[in-house]
Amino acid sequence: MRDFIRPLKIGAVECPSNLILAPMAGITDAPFRILCREGGAGLVCAEMVSANALKVESQKSLKMLRVNAGERPLSMQIFGGDAQTIALAAKLAQQSGADIIDINAGCPVKKVNKAGAGCVLMKEPAKLGQIIAAAVTSVSVPVTLKTRISLTRGEVLGPLLCRIAQDSGAAAVTIHARAAADVHSGPPDLKALEDCCKAVSIPIIGNGGIVDAKSARAAFETGCAGIMIGRAAVGNPFIFSQLAGCAPAGARDKIILFRRLVEENVKLYGQRTGINRSKKTVGYWVRGFENAAALRESLVRAQSLAEVISILSEVCNPKSL
Ligand SMILES: Cc1cc2nc3c(=O)[nH]c(=O)nc-3n(C[C@H](O)[C@H](O)[C@H](O)COP(=O)(O)O)c2cc1C
Repeated sequence: MRDFIRPLKIGAVECPSNLILAPMAGITDAPFRILCREGGAGLVCAEMVSANALKVESQKSLKMLRVNAGERPLSMQIFGGDAQTIALAAKLAQQSGADIIDINAGCPVKKVNKAGAGCVLMKEPAKLGQIIAAAVTSVSVPVTLKTRISLTRGEVLGPLLCRIAQDSGAAAVTIHARAAADVHSGPPDLKALEDCCKAVSIPIIGNGGIVDAKSARAAFETGCAGIMIGRAAVGNPFIFSQLAGCAPAGARDKIILFRRLVEENVKLYGQRTGINRSKKTVGYWVRGFENAAALRESLVRAQSLAEVISILSEVCNPKSL
């Protein structure tokens, strides 16, 4: 086990390790979260859910709050620009079984920003503080914040946001160490991340560009209590145990796991939606295969679970699938 791996405590929640799956819309649903817990994640985060949509009882959004066996500890992320609506959404998420409620103040997507949520909250620290405090008051589980290092590259905003979060009662802050303007590209600003860690006593979770043991170690060297992995986990839920020191997963192991993902998606969403959801990330799963492009192509064309299984069986020993 690598020396940077330890248990992580967020409020009263004990996470078995400090390696965390990032929330990713359209990706970190229950089937994928379960695979990542099995793959060594100490905490998994659900995709963001609109507090406004929960308030009007959108069935689609309420369904996103469903918790399944094998995925806890689980953090559920909500987004919104109104403190009362956030308080209501946080309560619903807790009632659904969330162990931690996370507030999104880093998303640069227009639809989210139009609702006064995501990274626009970084421009209004006082309002952000009220939103966090409203959530903290409405639930008994820990409330955390996920935000960015800054709005534009070079700006110094992270430490202020961390202090606001701490003063408003947040139990931890995740810092995506890229500016909102950079979306998901460019290297993380580790110096700025270190400044965030020094600014507060609550745990800081570092995020951005962590793909292997070297980048994980560099993030931990800033003083982070935990690290959060996003895209490097897609198609490779074993990344968490690899970061802890286990051998990398082989292409065949990935195929076996991809089959499970498709089966779980079909069980949860029905055949058509389940297959379509699985197709979104198929490119990540077949990466590393000699015939990856052809394999991806045939999986994207598949219409039923039986078809997917048959294609996957051809690339692996059918007996072991
Ligand atoms: C497809 C996709 C969806 C995402 N959805 C969310 C989300 O719902 N909430 C959130 O806070 N961040 C979201 N993010 C950002 C990730 O949580 C993470 O901060 C970002 O990918 C940087 O980490 P990485 O470099 O390890 O991928 C998303 C990123 C991607 C690529």
